[in-house]
Amino acid sequence: MSRILIRGGRILDPSVNRDEPGDLLIEGGVIAEIAANLEVPGSEVIDAAGAWVSPGFIDMHSHLREPGQEYKEDIASGGRSAVAGGFTAVACMANTHPANDDPAMTNFILDRALRDSPARVYPIAAATMGLEGEVMTEMVALVAAGAVAFSDDGKTITDSGVMRRVLEYSRLVGVPVIVHCEDRALVGDGVVNEGPVSTRLGLPGNPAVAETVHIQRDLLLAEITGAELHVAHVSTAGGVEAIRLARERGIQVTAEVTPHHLTLTDEALLGFDTHAKVAPPLRSRADVRACRDGLVDGTIDAIATDHAPHALHEKELEFTSAPPGMIGFETAAAVVLDLVRSGELTPLELVRRMSTHPAQILRRPGGTLSIGSPADVVVLDPERRWTYDPVKGYSKSRNSPWAGETLTGRVVATLVDGRLAYHVDRGILLP
Ligand code: DOR
Repeated sequence: MSRILIRGGRILDPSVNRDEPGDLLIEGGVIAEIAANLEVPGSEVIDAAGAWVSPGFIDMHSHLREPGQEYKEDIASGGRSAVAGGFTAVACMANTHPANDDPAMTNFILDRALRDSPARVYPIAAATMGLEGEVMTEMVALVAAGAVAFSDDGKTITDSGVMRRVLEYSRLVGVPVIVHCEDRALVGDGVVNEGPVSTRLGLPGNPAVAETVHIQRDLLLAEITGAELHVAHVSTAGGVEAIRLARERGIQVTAEVTPHHLTLTDEALLGFDTHAKVAPPLRSRADVRACRDGLVDGTIDAIATDHAPHALHEKELEFTSAPPGMIGFETAAAVVLDLVRSGELTPLELVRRMSTHPAQILRRPGGTLSIGSPADVVVLDPERRWTYDPVKGYSKSRNSPWAGETLTGRVVATLVDGRLAYHVDRGILLP
């Protein structure tokens, strides 16, 4: 039986509030033992001195682009990029070409993932056919095929009647509905946050209220349907406040925030860098503050990357024409460590938001180091400095605003199902 010993790390397991030094032994694909100074003859040893040893990160929100846009990313390259960022599982959005609105497509994604991806892949199915916001998908069949949630992400479901029915039917299958909240009429042609920056750039603004209006609508619909609503990439102070109040009223809602909305403001766009163009857009300093506070106080449950690969020729266009999105798997951990360095989150609470909470929301395994559970583990050195070069990364795309930056915090090793999938010195080792 294969044995891997992760030695001398700081064991962080949010599922039991464990934070202490120790060694972790993996045997036969599962977590076998956690103790001080384990000696296991014949085991492969991973040195975790100075590093955190935690449940693998789980990304609730990514775009893997297969099928249809494999020049941007595919399930193999996306899966490799994920494990290089410490993600042992990623959920992929349905805005592929064609969209994942059919059980055969969900099966295809799962088959490809089994064959090609070192990370687990959880397909999110479209809520409406073709993401057109009109005709609901066959939710029961999609969940039977393996869909973990429903979302038209990238688009907002404008028709409130359709949205209501999507929420009602989601209750039958017991999975969350993930919403991209941007009121299309209020967004108009907006490409950057509406405010002093959009004025200075002379670019059409996308106002914060475009997000809050839709979050409010969906919260009201979640209330009358009793469905599980999950708000994707919250970016505004108004959105955070709406979710906070809804929770206080007992509405079932969870939410996520991206590394970029936690750390960058719209000022990142002052040089017209299309790599920092995302939907929803980067917002004001006050919005960033509110998102961080919401993540800390539990209003926002999870950090999700919204890894959105686009090719260079698509991003090297005038600002208004470039598609929104940035890649994020490989930089996420280093970027969000900022919240630990600032004292806003303890390491344990950060891991909870990167792993335990996403597992709970999607009802997938993981998010725990409990004995006997599948060994999905990440070893992260929070002090290691490195310069991020997307060309040396594993995504097919390069659209990152952090390209060329020196970051602090690096994934040392990622194990999926008890097997070493990535090691910083050895690269990708699976499948
Ligand atoms: O920035 C974004 N890019 N936001 C989305 O909602 C969609 C995504 C994409 O698919 O490129």
